[in-house]
Amino acid sequence: MRYHDVIVVGAGLSGLRAAIAVNQKNVNVAVLTKVHPLRSHSIAAQGGVNAALGNNPRGGFDTPEKHAFDTVKGSDYLADQPAVLAFTEAAPDRIYEMEHWGCPFSRTPDGKIAQRPFGGAGFPRTCYATDKIGHVLLHTLYEQAVRFEHSSERQNFQIFEEFMVTRLVVEDGECRGVIAMNLATGELESFMAEAVIFATGGSGRVYIPSTNALISTGLAVAIPYWAGVPIKDMEFIQFHPTTLLGSGILMTEGCRGEGGFLTNSEGDRFLANYSDSAKAMEIAPRDIVARNMQREIVEGRGVAGQHINLDLTHLGAEKIMTRLPGIRDLSMSFVGVDPIKEPIPVRPGQHYTMGGIDTNGNCETEIKGFYAAGECAAVSVHGANRLGGNSLLETLVFGKIAGEHAADYVQAKAASKQGESAIKQAFSEQEAKHRELTAGAGSENPADIRDELGALMVDKVGIFRNEEDITDGWKKVKVLQNRFKKAKAGWAGKRFNQSLMWLLELEGNLAIAELVVAGALARKESRGSHFRLDFPTRNDEAHLMHTIARWSPDDEKMKLAYRAVELGIWEPKERKY
Ligand code: FUM
Repeated sequence: MRYHDVIVVGAGLSGLRAAIAVNQKNVNVAVLTKVHPLRSHSIAAQGGVNAALGNNPRGGFDTPEKHAFDTVKGSDYLADQPAVLAFTEAAPDRIYEMEHWGCPFSRTPDGKIAQRPFGGAGFPRTCYATDKIGHVLLHTLYEQAVRFEHSSERQNFQIFEEFMVTRLVVEDGECRGVIAMNLATGELESFMAEAVIFATGGSGRVYIPSTNALISTGLAVAIPYWAGVPIKDMEFIQFHPTTLLGSGILMTEGCRGEGGFLTNSEGDRFLANYSDSAKAMEIAPRDIVARNMQREIVEGRGVAGQHINLDLTHLGAEKIMTRLPGIRDLSMSFVGVDPIKEPIPVRPGQHYTMGGIDTNGNCETEIKGFYAAGECAAVSVHGANRLGGNSLLETLVFGKIAGEHAADYVQAKAASKQGESAIKQAFSEQEAKHRELTAGAGSENPADIRDELGALMVDKVGIFRNEEDITDGWKKVKVLQNRFKKAKAGWAGKRFNQSLMWLLELEGNLAIAELVVAGALARKESRGSHFRLDFPTRNDEAHLMHTIARWSPDDEKMKLAYRAVELGIWEPKERKY
């Protein structure tokens, strides 16, 4: 059995930032990741990261308080306000820290970090690096991780690449460690730890299509859920307005921040025709823009009946090539369209999970020694709808907070190396499960279940929802969960058993799908990304609450409860942009 003081699961931006924070307190840390850190989904982020720096001439009067207000309003008042304020106050320091670590942000003519407008923001506060912010942030943090890994003063930093965590071990309300599959050998390994931080990213691949990488499944949220950790607000699923027709690849909000237009089949900038987007137009928040795009398509004003045009042609070649070069490449490669000459065909697509592992502002969960940060967690600073540019900020702010709190917890702990028998038991249960999943051929094809699940989630719990569809979705998820019981990996080999790996991911997707559907069914109002055609208005009296889902191992059922949102700064108001 291996032992580390702190284990971080996930090596994207949140995971690496957390591990650095642990190590900076001279506490031993290991990072377990399914993929090489530079293949984490954080690398795919395009448009930018928010902080009230006031560098843009139009953003000179920006402040963390204004950033906090925009975030709360954008969240449709479901975000916890004290946590949001702490989040936006920490933002400038985290950005300058990345700058000092060498992150190559785009620059203003006078050399400051450049900032562009983004949806729902009162000022241009999104710091960018052309349209490849995830790439530069992740490389910068990885360089720091390598520096710590090889530092002579701190030899306590280790990264385990291609280790897939399959189980969280909890005993008497305390976290004891994890069980992970070494993908290269196929062997399970036990990791004992005083504290574990999940920084595993979002669950986007419960839906198909999604802008998320294939690795961003529901499993990493399902693992703590099965171990008894409450999961918050899973019904809030963000649809990004502009994903490429066909593949669903992200076309950054930066396109609109730089002045791009959305037009329908009549060439009309239709956002002007809707009261909630008439003023901010293309840079209204995502939930609003995505809904109004979808309305155009459903009502027959979609281009070729199926998409909206993202028109950048008026921006000119130089702006497109200097600010949005990646968008041009992707558009030319995947749909054969050069945005300098023609509009890009786009439509809304699954992009982000606002809900996740229930944490407080210190990234602590109900289980002692178990922490979560980044998209897999719900503090909640995004509430019912996240503003673009706030997710990368979340990784930096809460990655650091999670790492520091976990390190402090370990240093203050009286007894260490507890829980050997619980870990051994979890190990044998997981081993038995892998034996069972790889024994013989199943009568169900896991890929069919995955595809059917992805499509039904878009159909039944997509941008527009209603009682009948959600109920039907619930029944269909149950049917798929039963079909899953007859699915097998189809291959019993050990080394890089991708079939087993994807089967485990699928089981996680099915668990998380159930949470999305159950939360959506119970929430009889429209708020942020959750829009019920049968309850089209927000109902603060009944539903200004977080949804808390728990797995009950006794009857093997999911149970929902509610917790009041932390307000205290701003009164909920109607959202218009
Ligand atoms: O549109 C984008 O570049 C995505 C940004 C985000 O999700 O924060």
